[in-house]
Amino acid sequence: MIETQSLATDAAGIRAAADLLAEGQLVALPTETVYGLAGDARNGTAVARIFEAKGRPSFNPLIVHVPDAQAAEGHALWSDAADRLAAAFWPGPLTLVLPLRTGGGLSPLVTAGQSSVALRVPAHPAAQAVLRASGAPLAAPSANPSGRISPTRPEHVRAGLGGRIAAILDGGACGVGVESTIIGLTGAKATLLRPGGLPTEVIEEALGAPLLRPEAGGAITAPGQLASHYAPSALMRLEAETAREGETLLGFGGTQGAALDLSVSGDLVEAASNLFDHLHRLDAAGAEVIAVAPIPERGLGRAINDRLRRAAAPR
Ligand code: TXA
Ligand code: MG
Repeated sequence: MIETQSLATDAAGIRAAADLLAEGQLVALPTETVYGLAGDARNGTAVARIFEAKGRPSFNPLIVHVPDAQAAEGHALWSDAADRLAAAFWPGPLTLVLPLRTGGGLSPLVTAGQSSVALRVPAHPAAQAVLRASGAPLAAPSANPSGRISPTRPEHVRAGLGGRIAAILDGGACGVGVESTIIGLTGAKATLLRPGGLPTEVIEEALGAPLLRPEAGGAITAPGQLASHYAPSALMRLEAETAREGETLLGFGGTQGAALDLSVSGDLVEAASNLFDHLHRLDAAGAEVIAVAPIPERGLGRAINDRLRRAAAPR
């Protein structure tokens, strides 16, 4: 066990985070989606520590965070589609999977030996400040033990990884609340690898074409697509109109009898930002079965339903 420091997002905290990262230590950072567990993506030891701290299977590659599209181009073979999406949505909750540019200096552990790399430019000012202060590309999966709910508050990170990482940069609650949307650009057509914080509708509009969607149950293209993922300790029942005996109800749009409601007004953006926090809270309160009200399958509702289906999958 090590002591996990809490750092403020002022100049001293940003400097301390950058110094720890330069030593190969791990720092949990706020991003606009969820907290990320950051390590220097060029340093194999730092990357190995990320897998170890999360207990993550090493075949699962990590997202590399960079300050801007120009830095991203140093690590990937660029394309027109990449240009278009980067110009429209970076910085923001979008990850692009592109062919890996060799010689870019990334540890091969980051890509888990694949010939592609996942790149993201986060919008959160503290994440941007650390990226710029450290000058390193930062590998950062969500800062939770593997297979558990992603953290949207520093307390969630401490509960899951306290004692296993050097520091947590405390930026309060994350705004978006679900992970970035992942788009694959390694084939002829742009492919949705994970629905997330950027709605697919706006991506298709920017591309002027529909996204390819890998068939459910098909080959796993993003290893985070493993069915049981994002799991709370409680069992889950979805599309619940009311709670049955012994269930705790998570509502949406003002559901009667809900213990917590993702958004009383039925706002999907608010619901996404509350999703993981509410699951953490119901878990902490000892819920045995969480029954979840139906969530509309549009906009951020797609990412919310994706995470709920994984949380409810057989474990
Ligand atoms: O919002 C986010 O994306 C957060 C914040 C911290 O940036 N990060 C995040 O990382 O969710 P993580 O590691 O929990 O999820 C990364 C996903 C995994 O499903 C992984 O398999 C996929 O990205 N991935 C990474 N590299 C890939 C690659 N080369 N090809 C396909 N999928 C890849
Ligand atoms: Mg994750």
